[in-house]
Amino acid sequence: MLKLAVLVSGGGTNLQAIIDAIADGRITNAKIEIVISNNPHAYALKRAEKAGISFRCICPRDYADREDFHEALLLALEQSGADLVVLAGCMVVIPEQIVRRYENRMINIHPSLIPSFCGKDYYGLRVHEEALARGVKVTGATVHFVDAGTDTGPIILQKAVKVEEDDTPEVLQRRVMEEAEWVIMPRAIDLIAHGAIQAVDGKVIRVKTEDGHR
Ligand code: GAR
Repeated sequence: MLKLAVLVSGGGTNLQAIIDAIADGRITNAKIEIVISNNPHAYALKRAEKAGISFRCICPRDYADREDFHEALLLALEQSGADLVVLAGCMVVIPEQIVRRYENRMINIHPSLIPSFCGKDYYGLRVHEEALARGVKVTGATVHFVDAGTDTGPIILQKAVKVEEDDTPEVLQRRVMEEAEWVIMPRAIDLIAHGAIQAVDGKVIRVKTEDGHR
């Protein structure tokens, strides 16, 4: 059984998508061990509580400096025994020592088709504002393994979403979540839980599993 640590910062709809997918069997062989938020007010923490999942807030403000915060985060991850760290709307930059510790065992959801609208300055609603400003007709979401860069790791799954003429950033964000993020994030976790994908030379490939899981 793959143990998950889910890192969140806000509303937690991607966390909810994972909880729901485990409940209805779209994800099997995986279990959320802990939810960790950097933000004490994140609604995601309420979602964890409602689902009876252990949760913790590890807030940078409570530590003397960034280094201490990073140490506390790494310690919490290690104590949870997580096999896979899932960044589900996590707005904290994960430091290199944690990325290295969880190489090919940490995934992130990003609300665009990488390599468009990604990198250091692109997160949350801003991604959709930029997509609309550029006038793209198609956008989407990407799940990828996390490496030392920002949104540069091996791509696991992507799903395209149509941009409509009268979209606002909020409307587009919601459509990308519903049609793409909440679909591909649970799917990626299920594939990893069954050993059905592998990162090789910076690319993700599908592999045959013993139980024939697809
Ligand atoms: C989601 O759209 C997620 O893709 C995005 O933040 C939102 C969090 O929503 N993540 C990033 O932009 C990371 N670069 P949620 O808290 O409701 O899951």
